Amino acid sequence: MTQSFSDQAASDQAASDEAVSDEAGLPQRIAAELIEARNRTALLTGCVDDADLVRQHSPLMSPLVWDLAHIANQEELWLLRGVGGMEPMHPEIDPLYDAFEHPRAERPTLPLLAPAEARSYGHEVRGRVLDLLERSRFSFSRRGEGPPGNPLASRLLRDGFAFGMIAQHEAQHDETMLITHQIRTGSPVLTVAAPEPAPADALRMPVEVLVPGGPFTMGTSTDPWALDNERPAHTVDVPGFYIDTTPVTCGQYIEFIADGGYDEPRWWAAEGWAHRQRAKLSAPLFWRFEGGQWARSVFGRIEPVAMAEPVLHVSWYEADAYARWAGRRLPTEAEWEKAARFDPVTRESRRYPWGSAEPTAERANLGQQALRPAPAGSYPEGAAPCGARQLIGDVWEWTSSDFLPYPGFVAWPYREYSEVFFGPDYKVLRGGSFGVSSVACRGTFRNWDYPIRRQIFSGFRTARPAFEQAG
Ligand code: AVJ
Ligand code: FE
Repeated sequence: MTQSFSDQAASDQAASDEAVSDEAGLPQRIAAELIEARNRTALLTGCVDDADLVRQHSPLMSPLVWDLAHIANQEELWLLRGVGGMEPMHPEIDPLYDAFEHPRAERPTLPLLAPAEARSYGHEVRGRVLDLLERSRFSFSRRGEGPPGNPLASRLLRDGFAFGMIAQHEAQHDETMLITHQIRTGSPVLTVAAPEPAPADALRMPVEVLVPGGPFTMGTSTDPWALDNERPAHTVDVPGFYIDTTPVTCGQYIEFIADGGYDEPRWWAAEGWAHRQRAKLSAPLFWRFEGGQWARSVFGRIEPVAMAEPVLHVSWYEADAYARWAGRRLPTEAEWEKAARFDPVTRESRRYPWGSAEPTAERANLGQQALRPAPAGSYPEGAAPCGARQLIGDVWEWTSSDFLPYPGFVAWPYREYSEVFFGPDYKVLRGGSFGVSSVACRGTFRNWDYPIRRQIFSGFRTARPAFEQAG
């Protein structure tokens, strides 16, 4: 059963003592994150008609109305039932919105709540959640005192974790729904605001930066809203390497295409080549060659490909082939995180490349404010100590690594968030995109997908070792 609570929930009281939790603004922060996510959900599901909401725009995606009720159902499950101990509101619908009972392709055939029903379910849950938050505000103490005799609720409450998890869940589905909008055909409904051009110094940036060799702290044991797969903090020794200052741009990627990169098996991993043949890949998803130039569709509008923007909608196999063509390779997940977090002065790992301050519009392109990545070299204020830019926001970056647990991983609060996905089938993506809100994005955040997937907001940067191996 997908939504069952994990076994070790009760066995972790001791670990709670150090959590920083009785911070005064926590309930306000929680309410603000929940409301921000819901505003986005309302916009993404309010700008199309009911027929569009129930339609399946791609077998890879759920109908938008499924996301809408699934968001509410998870919120009811973890906050009203898990934290609040309330009875289910509509137990009969739980299986419909359990992502493991019904794969995406099957979801349009289910007796789903109609759009108006899904909206009022979400509204009702949210009203009760804000009441619960009001009642819980004195319980975000160090030990997360929940209802007596309910250790699960206590642990879910600690640091407001369950509220943070649900805000992140809705933000993740907001990105998923934005992907559905990108796939959707028909007249455009979303306004595509463009980010600023890159700053003048972008032209003088080195193409790559050095990250010195040595140990660094990967993952976190203290970030209160970190999800289970980001935990625990552990030391990883990473030999020195160079990494691209920015994500690979469309202009760079076009050079790979023009050089016959898609027709040259030696650049491709064996499985990647087989997939390229089978799927007849010849350019990123949503691209077409028209009138002598590359064009692409962006939320229903056709436009020339912007050369300076990070390339978007490439699979892991394409990213891997490009890197080999360029004489380089994808960074490992540990390399990516060290580039993004390691401060060589303190030798500590930061929450974000720029430090611990929250993301702002000057530091990163997040939260669907612009519906496209900013030109390479943007956000100098968001640079990491190593000099790399745009590690947070803009495009999810493929790493060479499989999605695996860190040493000491413990599933929390349910195995189906991460644990069931661990293994060689999924590759890790890092850094977030313009489509995800800051609540679900930080230096430790891990995303994953199949190496063939490219409807997601995926790009990449490349790396090379600082010292080539002898022999
Ligand atoms: C972390 C983005 C892979 O969408 O499958 C949403 C996030 N988990 N609901 C996904 C998630 C449960 C997950 N990813
Ligand atoms: Fe979900």
